[in-house]
Amino acid sequence: MKLCVLSATLCFNLAAALPSLPSWLTSEFSAEIPEEIHYFTWHSPGPNDARAPCPMLNTLANHGFLPHSGKSITERDTVNALYTALNINQTLGQFLFQKAMTTNPTPNATTFDLDDLDRHDILEHDASLSRGDFYFGDDHTFNQTIFDETRSYWTEPIIDVQMAANARLARVHTSNATNPTFMLTDLGRKFSFGETAAYILVLGDRVAGTVKRSWVEYLFEKERLPLELGWRKRKVEISNGHVGNLLQRIVNATGASAQDKEIMIKRGGMHVGL
Ligand code: HEM
Repeated sequence: MKLCVLSATLCFNLAAALPSLPSWLTSEFSAEIPEEIHYFTWHSPGPNDARAPCPMLNTLANHGFLPHSGKSITERDTVNALYTALNINQTLGQFLFQKAMTTNPTPNATTFDLDDLDRHDILEHDASLSRGDFYFGDDHTFNQTIFDETRSYWTEPIIDVQMAANARLARVHTSNATNPTFMLTDLGRKFSFGETAAYILVLGDRVAGTVKRSWVEYLFEKERLPLELGWRKRKVEISNGHVGNLLQRIVNATGASAQDKEIMIKRGGMHVGL
């Protein structure tokens, strides 16, 4: 009860502090769902806060769904944040947490920091949509020039599977042409397709395979949920099955838009996947 009163007071104060919020936002302030207060709070990272090469994890930390420090993130933090903010189900949340843990070099660790995810060729890979390749020195920070290349393939206000696939493939071609160490491991390649599926799934329409370009640009450029543009948490829980399905559609669209099939070039014994 005390918590409810506290939350209601806090919500009221927040609403008063942010008078420009649209009415749908203020009407959703609720003592029953205090976690969602994070939709209305956003702070850029401080100098000692850790951030990732992942626009969504950074966004969740900026909102406070994940620890704002970006450090010592537990499985519970991860699963709760992904579920509360984005309606990603527990199984997928746990799976992603386990993947994140592979980037923490400390033996028997039970948490990760967002900048552990920078470690190259574990999950972080070449040909990102908005980050440079490790070879060029910074695989971590949002890079507007690279993101502009990606955006140039989103040729309509609604991005569909084909445009999303084209944008990803273009980044692979550019990296392959400019980075002498270019490589995608099998896991990096899966992650790369998965990330393209993820922005459609979390922000858009998983059945149509479409998403508003402005919402995706907002997420990448501001590392903030595009609530003010009208985005809302998806109604249906997002599962591994949804990721797999959309990922396959992007793989298929990549084949059709490239050389009619998935190209795998052997370079130095490693697969370079397009
Ligand atoms: C615990 C959960 C997650 C982990 C461990 C994780 C990890 C990562 C990592 C390591 C990267 C960098 C890959 C690269 O080199 O480009 C990345 C990128 C990305 N992630 Fe996440 N991620 C998580 C959740 C999400 C969610 C829920 C979304 C939903 C939109 C998402 C969307 C993206 C996108 C779109 C990129 C591509 C960024 C780019 O290519 O510039 N991630 N993620």
